[in-house]
Amino acid sequence: MTTPEPAPLYRDCDFNGPLSDDHSARLIGTLGPLDGRHVVDVGCGWAELLLRTLASAPTATGFGIDIGEGAIAHGRANAAERGLADRVELVVGDAGQWAGANADVVFNIGSTHAWGGDPVTHTANALEALSGLLRPGGRLLFGECFWTREPTDAELAAMYDTPRAQYRTVRGLVDLALSYGFRLRALSQASLSEWDDFENRHAKAWEEWLVENSGSPDAEEIRALSERHRVARVDGWREVMGMAYLTLVRV
Ligand SMILES: C[S@@+](CC[C@H](N)C(=O)[O-])C[C@H]1O[C@@H](n2cnc3c(N)ncnc32)[C@H](O)[C@@H]1O
Repeated sequence: MTTPEPAPLYRDCDFNGPLSDDHSARLIGTLGPLDGRHVVDVGCGWAELLLRTLASAPTATGFGIDIGEGAIAHGRANAAERGLADRVELVVGDAGQWAGANADVVFNIGSTHAWGGDPVTHTANALEALSGLLRPGGRLLFGECFWTREPTDAELAAMYDTPRAQYRTVRGLVDLALSYGFRLRALSQASLSEWDDFENRHAKAWEEWLVENSGSPDAEEIRALSERHRVARVDGWREVMGMAYLTLVRV
């Protein structure tokens, strides 16, 4: 165990992904009337987008599931602080083992890996599982990475050896989603400045920790983590990885 523990990601990041306040509000606006709707977020993290959605729709209810205990505890505390605790249930659990529930709206953002299996099958596995959670006419907000151009072998290696076939072009991602029985209602993507803002916040706790604990026996471990992440970012995904947000309507 690292002593002291670096601050959790939620101290510095609003969302666990490249998403600004404005963009999140625009995504919520693509979900259609939310009055009385039930919104389910799979791999919700600390459920910030779910909480903002419920705050915007006073009669909507929500459910979020994530495997991370710390993230769920933080999401519950935020729900209570914002007066949303009676309309949202946040649970610790493995999406792959979860039986699911009928929903009007489902979110799956940056979390296609929650169903496990080979990384090259994550997107398809998620779309299949998510389509089973929605009633016809229900909406899926799906956030998934894509290649902005063909990555080089060196870039893939820098990105923790991401398999080339794990992601596709935006066109390929949309085509795949439609093949699982959806229609495309809206499409947007994270800007480079949203990515940079997320990455800068992501690295903040490690960099602060290194300044404040330079003599710690754990400094080498934290420095290595931070350095590896910098390589993944600067030599890898900053040039080639995009994040697309698809609002899909279940046929
Ligand atoms: C990149 S984060 C995205 C979190 C959130 N959707 C957001 O956009 O802020 C991916 C999340 O998937 C969760 N996750 C990974 N495997 C999971 C599993 N088997 N079941 C449920 N959640 C899982 C992680 O704990 C993490 O919170």
